[in-house]
Amino acid sequence: MSDHKPKKTIGNRPPRAFGWMAEYSNEHKLLEAARKVRDSGYTDTDAFTPFPVHGIDEALGIKPTKLPFIVLCCGLTGLSLALLMQWWMNGVDYMYIISGKPMGITPASIPVAFEMTILFSAFSTFLGMIALNQLPKFSNPVFTNPRFDRATDDKFFLYVSAKDKYYNRDSVRELLGGTQHDSLDEVIEDSTPDALPRPIWLTALLVVLAGLIPAMIILNMRNGFSTAPRFHVFFDMDFQPKKKAQQTTTIFADGRTMRPQVEGTVARGQLDEQDSFYLGYDPNKLSALENTDGVRLVATQADPKPQDTAKDGGTKVIPAANTPAAPAAALNLPWLTTLPIEANDENMKLGETKFQTYCSACHGYSGYGDGLVHKRAEALGQGFWIPPTSMHIDRVASQPVGQIFHTITKGQGKMPGYAASMNAKERWAVVLYVKALQRSRNASDKDIPEDKKPSIEDLTQPKTEAKK
Ligand code: HEC
Repeated sequence: MSDHKPKKTIGNRPPRAFGWMAEYSNEHKLLEAARKVRDSGYTDTDAFTPFPVHGIDEALGIKPTKLPFIVLCCGLTGLSLALLMQWWMNGVDYMYIISGKPMGITPASIPVAFEMTILFSAFSTFLGMIALNQLPKFSNPVFTNPRFDRATDDKFFLYVSAKDKYYNRDSVRELLGGTQHDSLDEVIEDSTPDALPRPIWLTALLVVLAGLIPAMIILNMRNGFSTAPRFHVFFDMDFQPKKKAQQTTTIFADGRTMRPQVEGTVARGQLDEQDSFYLGYDPNKLSALENTDGVRLVATQADPKPQDTAKDGGTKVIPAANTPAAPAAALNLPWLTTLPIEANDENMKLGETKFQTYCSACHGYSGYGDGLVHKRAEALGQGFWIPPTSMHIDRVASQPVGQIFHTITKGQGKMPGYAASMNAKERWAVVLYVKALQRSRNASDKDIPEDKKPSIEDLTQPKTEAKK
């Protein structure tokens, strides 16, 4: 028996007993005692050892943990959720072709499915381990025995809980007494007061108060007013010796930071700005217009019918040429009316490919403005959605090629410009294709070349006759 003497009472009642604990000097004695206890039918038992003892689970009759099974279930749940999510998103809710892949579950779904499986498994392992071990547990009645401290050092302990359904105080004492123990003690309820000691309370209070300080500083900064310069913690490259556009400088005699172009030089890409192939209109005619007396160049707002009052001696309203935001509809520029590229099969094919790549998402494959993006916006009932214009309404169908080229290059309204995605030749090819699309809506049998006519008429005949 040990020398530790628990208090005789807690309040007015005697302290509760939680079971018996025996101490052993090595793991062999512990294992032997554990087998004895197990063979007597006790199951609510536990062993405490300074190092893992092989065979202790079996000696105590502890069943293998359920954790792997829980992890398997959660992992499968994660896998199914990931597959379900991807199937529903791309296969049902938003059927949109991405990189030409089929809808729903594809090999591309594997990474997400894999990640979700791992995520769910990892969390269930961590949380399941904590739950199965009934953690966190801040105290255990065995701690009341000062000898128990050596469980982390060089002693082995075996504990039989009073909650065991066969527990009987005297017979358990007798059973453990018959093993090669160093000491045998009843595990007694901890009689020390369970209120948190004052210093801990005070520390916690201080930590909470200190935690409020950053929030109060931020609140003060947001609502207060200060004339001191901003407190700069990280300088990064916020302050650099440099000049910004439109600032003045003392370096140059004219005081301008932005330097004018050197006489007789051409800047990169500058030639493009003077070439109708890149503009869609003839810049020479435009400058002739600009120089006419009484003509002012101004950017107009979207105005479907550009005014042309110059003939009456008024002001001719012509939008500035390089204003990207100026809607093509409102522009009355000297548009090119003939294609600067050849209308051959190769260019038509190129235009078709590019149109289907860049335009069909909004304008639809036939150019009616019924592309997938538009349908999706309609399905969502988005009030701010501007429908893509149909290529077949009169206003667009009657546009000269140069104007359509300009729309593709600069964009219009909600539609972005495509100068960065396609070079000028490709954009012209798209214009060719758009013109062909428009023309195809108004075709009559007169448009079919005489030599092609028989083969087309054949199609309307039953196949057997056509074969001849
Ligand atoms: C992101 C969707 C979207 C894509 C992609 C798109 N457009 Fe548009 N397009 C629009 C919208 C929206 C309008 C109407 C813009 C407005 O009037 O504000 C429009 C208008 C037009 C017009 C009519 C301009 C006018 O004079 O009113 C033409 C022509 C046109 N697009 C051609 C094209 C071509 C060719 C492509 C492919 C290079 C293309 N669009 C790609 C959305 C798109």
